This record gives sequence, C-alpha cells and structure tokens, in this order.
Amino acid sequence: MRKCFGLLGLLLVASGAFAADPQLVERGRKEEQRSCIACHSLLLIDRQRISTAAWKKEIDKMIGWGAVVPDRQLLLEYLSQEYNESKPLPPPELSGNGSKTQSGKTGTSK
Ligand code: HEC
Repeated sequence: MRKCFGLLGLLLVASGAFAADPQLVERGRKEEQRSCIACHSLLLIDRQRISTAAWKKEIDKMIGWGAVVPDRQLLLEYLSQEYNESKPLPPPELSGNGSKTQSGKTGTSK
C-alpha cells in the first residue's frame, strides 16, 4: 500500500512539473515572441539568469513601459523555468563581424 502511494506521488510530481510538458514550454515561447519582441531583441531576455521573483518584477516593469502580455502567468512560468540561475550561462554574443558585443540590445548606435 505504501509503495502504491509513493508511485502516485511520483506521478503527480512528474505531471505537475512545467518542464515535463513540452507543449507548455512551446506555448510560453510563443507568448514571449508575441509579447516581448516589440521593443528589443529576445536575446536581451534569454540571456538573463534570474529568479522567479526577479522575472515577475521584470515582466511588470515591461508592462509598465507598455508591453502587452495577454498571459502573464504563462510567461512568468516559462521564463522562470527556462532562464533561471541554475541554467548555464549563454555563450558570449557575437556581432556580424564576429567581435563581441555588450548585450542583446538592438537599434543602439555609438
Ligand atoms: C514597450 C517596449 C518594451 C516591451 C514590449 C518589452 N520591453 Fe523589455 N525593455 C524595454 C526597454 C526600453 C529596456 C531597456 C533596454 C536598454 O537598456 O536598452 C528593456 C530591457 C529589458 C530587459 C533587460 C533588463 C532591464 O530591465 O533593463 C529584460 C530582461 C526585458 N526587457 C524583458 C522583457 C520581457 C520579458 C518582455 C515581454 C513581456 C519585454 N521586455 C517587452 C522595453 C520593452
């Protein structure tokens, strides 16, 4: 009987995990593409490695600046899952001529 409950728990954990559902990740990615591309490159977002609380603040800051986010909860789950502190840092970004650039900003010229 105990074994049975253990198995049930395992199943529940597996089905509840965001990462276990590739469809959710896919939907989160779409939400990011829809909501966050208007003003800057998505690279600026995907290079971050921050906590869920920090992502929440970040999304709210962007909304304050005019971002339209139809599904804020989905986006928050997606960003905190994919771009948190436990993920490896992305490789340095290269510009068109192969030299290193400072960030994923677009449209800024020196
Ligand atoms: C209305 C325009 C606008 C939209 C839409 C927008 N952002 Fe931004 N975002 C900015 C500006 C302006 C900056 C500052 C860029 C800079 O420093 O050059 C920024 C910077 C960022 C940064 C870098 C850290 C920071 O706070 O400066 C992150 C992360 C970020 N945005 C995430 C997002 C996410 C996630 C979305 C989608 C919900 C989003 N942005 C949509 C305007 C926007």
